[in-house]
Amino acid sequence: MSARKLSRGGRLVVASHNPGKLREIADLVRPFGLDTVSAAAMSVSEPEETETTFAGNARLKALHSAKATGLPALSDDSGLEIEGLGGDPGVYSARWAGPAKDFSLAMQKVHDALAAKRGWEEIAGPRANFTAALCLAWPDGDTHIFEGKVFGRLVWPPRGSKGFGYDPMFLADGETETFGEMEPEKKHAISHRARAFRLFIDACLE
Ligand code: IMP
Repeated sequence: MSARKLSRGGRLVVASHNPGKLREIADLVRPFGLDTVSAAAMSVSEPEETETTFAGNARLKALHSAKATGLPALSDDSGLEIEGLGGDPGVYSARWAGPAKDFSLAMQKVHDALAAKRGWEEIAGPRANFTAALCLAWPDGDTHIFEGKVFGRLVWPPRGSKGFGYDPMFLADGETETFGEMEPEKKHAISHRARAFRLFIDACLE
């Protein structure tokens, strides 16, 4: 089924409390004549991410905001999936960094979990992907998911300080710089999030 379009001049709730994501989404949809408002500005709470897939968590967050505000709402859920760890940390990517959101710690945990499974013996490095799921939800409960992935390998030790999260240990296929070493414009052109957004824009904006 094709996705419902958002019309120019309309309002879109961004179902995230992360200022970085809010800014990025506002910039992306502005050229299409949409006004964004954050869930926080509409006094919508943040639901607990209880699902086991990116799409499930994105759907839960977008539906929560759409129902609470009576407006269409867009959410995003993302993370790192590692083949040799059965897809972990996956939807738990943020949680592996602990309450202090320490991604050096999270990357060390990834390193140690892979070492315990001899994952680093793969010559070119363990295979992994970043995934981003976007969900557009309508107040009547209709939802559409747009999912983007970027595949690559992990490196150790981590390299670069430009990105965030697990960027310094992720080397996308065909690249020589990790996401942590890459200029942000270059990462934003090839990332999982960019791919998901392209699908959303093509399907829902006019
Ligand atoms: P979310 O805010 O629940 O979607 O959490 C996603 C988590 O996945 C982030 O805290 C990061 O740890 C990780 N992640 C998602 N996208 C990226 C990325 O582009 N680079 C590095 N880490 C990412």
